[in-house]
Amino acid sequence: MCGIVGYIGHREAYPIIIEGLKRLEYRGYDSAGIALFDGTDLKVSKTKGKVAELENRIKKEITSNGSLGIGHTRWATHGVPNDVNAHPHYSNSGDLVIIHNGIIENYASLREELQKRGYTFKSETDTEVLINLIEDVKIKEDVKLGQAVQIALNQVVGAYSIAVFDKNKPDEIVIARLGSPLAIGIGEDEFFIASDASPFIEYTKNAIYLEDEEMAIIRLNKEVKIRKIHDDSLVDPYVQELQMNLEQIEKGGYDHFMLKEIYEQPSAIRDTYRGRLKANQGIIKMSGVEDNMKKFLNANRIIVVACGTSWHAGLVSEYIFEDLARIPVEVEYASEFRYRNPVIHENDVVIAISQSGETADTLAAIKLAKSKGAFVFGVCNVVGSSIARETDAGAYTHAGPEIGVASTKAFTTQITVLTLIALRLARAKGTISSSDFRLHLLELEMIPDKVQKALDSDAYVKTIADIYKNVKNFLYLGRGYNFPVALEGALKLKEISYIHAEGYPAAEMKHGPIALIDDDMPIVVIATKKGHYDKIVSNIQEIKSRNGRIIGIVTKGDKTVKELADHVIEVPETIESLTPLLTTIPLQLLSYHIAVMLGKNVDQPRNLAKSVTVE
Ligand code: F6R
Repeated sequence: MCGIVGYIGHREAYPIIIEGLKRLEYRGYDSAGIALFDGTDLKVSKTKGKVAELENRIKKEITSNGSLGIGHTRWATHGVPNDVNAHPHYSNSGDLVIIHNGIIENYASLREELQKRGYTFKSETDTEVLINLIEDVKIKEDVKLGQAVQIALNQVVGAYSIAVFDKNKPDEIVIARLGSPLAIGIGEDEFFIASDASPFIEYTKNAIYLEDEEMAIIRLNKEVKIRKIHDDSLVDPYVQELQMNLEQIEKGGYDHFMLKEIYEQPSAIRDTYRGRLKANQGIIKMSGVEDNMKKFLNANRIIVVACGTSWHAGLVSEYIFEDLARIPVEVEYASEFRYRNPVIHENDVVIAISQSGETADTLAAIKLAKSKGAFVFGVCNVVGSSIARETDAGAYTHAGPEIGVASTKAFTTQITVLTLIALRLARAKGTISSSDFRLHLLELEMIPDKVQKALDSDAYVKTIADIYKNVKNFLYLGRGYNFPVALEGALKLKEISYIHAEGYPAAEMKHGPIALIDDDMPIVVIATKKGHYDKIVSNIQEIKSRNGRIIGIVTKGDKTVKELADHVIEVPETIESLTPLLTTIPLQLLSYHIAVMLGKNVDQPRNLAKSVTVE
């Protein structure tokens, strides 16, 4: 978590850094700060709160400007969010300044050591310890900044991406990465540094992504020098051309990124299957799957590892893989999997799902599975992310940047990729007839248009949001393929409106949650025509007879549920395995509208961050 930005070159650093921080706020937004070298001195300004507050403060504090600077937007790990704990932090001499994303695990013992040597600390952060360790090494060993950073990092346990500069040497920034992402934008006589490429996309399309355990010395008018932190070997920089454009990371007329991303789903799903699905010819082609077909076909089972919404997409895939390809599937929270000594065999296929490709627990689960010999396949959105690089093979979702903290288009595009894989494997294994296979492909091809139709319910969903916005609890029920959608609907509501919500398999209701039902409790029931329809109608009857208020998500034209429910939201008809792609839409809209009506910060809900790069 935390976003970091830096600039060194011939332009004014401040506007680049402040705009960059705004784009990285999805990574954390409890405090922010900036350090600028104005040509003669170092100016630091930092504050609790969002980047907008930093901007207001800077207007008063920093008048002069310069062409070297670093900035940070924080998601607190060590020390509460306040002005003092906000980054940048500087060393006791006031010469060195640092921004840091990650956690230094052995900071307490390092701090003690440094205190014994006379160092004092203003903040509670691990970062202030690190910058003083660097300073201590620099003085003690009489080395340059780059070497001091390297020696210090070799004493550190934990995860980091950092940027450091010395006010006495304002032509150089030193950066390093272990476990948290870091990109360098290469311009003409200028360099940009950021947690992802969005802060510099309008200045350059050329970027180097640092790998784990790499550091770079970025010096004006010199080539970037990259070396391994631990063994000191030099690394050849690999300059990538970025595909992202500015439009993709702006709101495009929508009030919030979340709404924009909900509405982008028809095109995002189309982008996900573009070039992979040829429905008329009855073909699915995914190079990551084709190249590893033997591994998939010999798999005893598939283990899915993921967190949050991506875990919900994994749960949907359990139904698809088992139903269509007849491969047993286990879906694991990456955070549990990594620590419980799981039984993993060489012929297990592990599928890791992650929008950001940076989730620390998922990354650790992948490393564990690989160490036990499993083949690991990644389903990621962010191209070149840590998980995309760490996995043996994979398939991108191609959803485009997702900036709203609540995941929306990532979920539906993950399901799309997983469906494509399951169908491809089912065909190869012969567990699906050719007519059924063809039917699935044709239906999948029509999904973007159907998602578009599902979005037409927006205004009606808003009226429902208005009725229920002040309740304290919600229950979400679904069965089969739509049980994970119920979990996802509840998560969406919780995270952006702070209303308590639970998702349950509908039939489990009578084993406990039914006790909660009264006329204050809205219950969202996913009751599409395909899949356990009669059973779910019975569940609705049970709720009705206990005065529960029902919001049904139903197939267009449904009559039975309409008679029983207080409200019904229709989605177009499709085959059962694809219903999650449609039933999810009204649930996303419902949580969005409730959160907006309650005045919540939809794109940046409290306590959350988009990329969870700490465990
Ligand atoms: C919920 C949400 C989170 C993420 C989770 C995993 O809306 O966004 O639950 O799904 O943190 O993130 P990724 O997919 O980036 O690994």
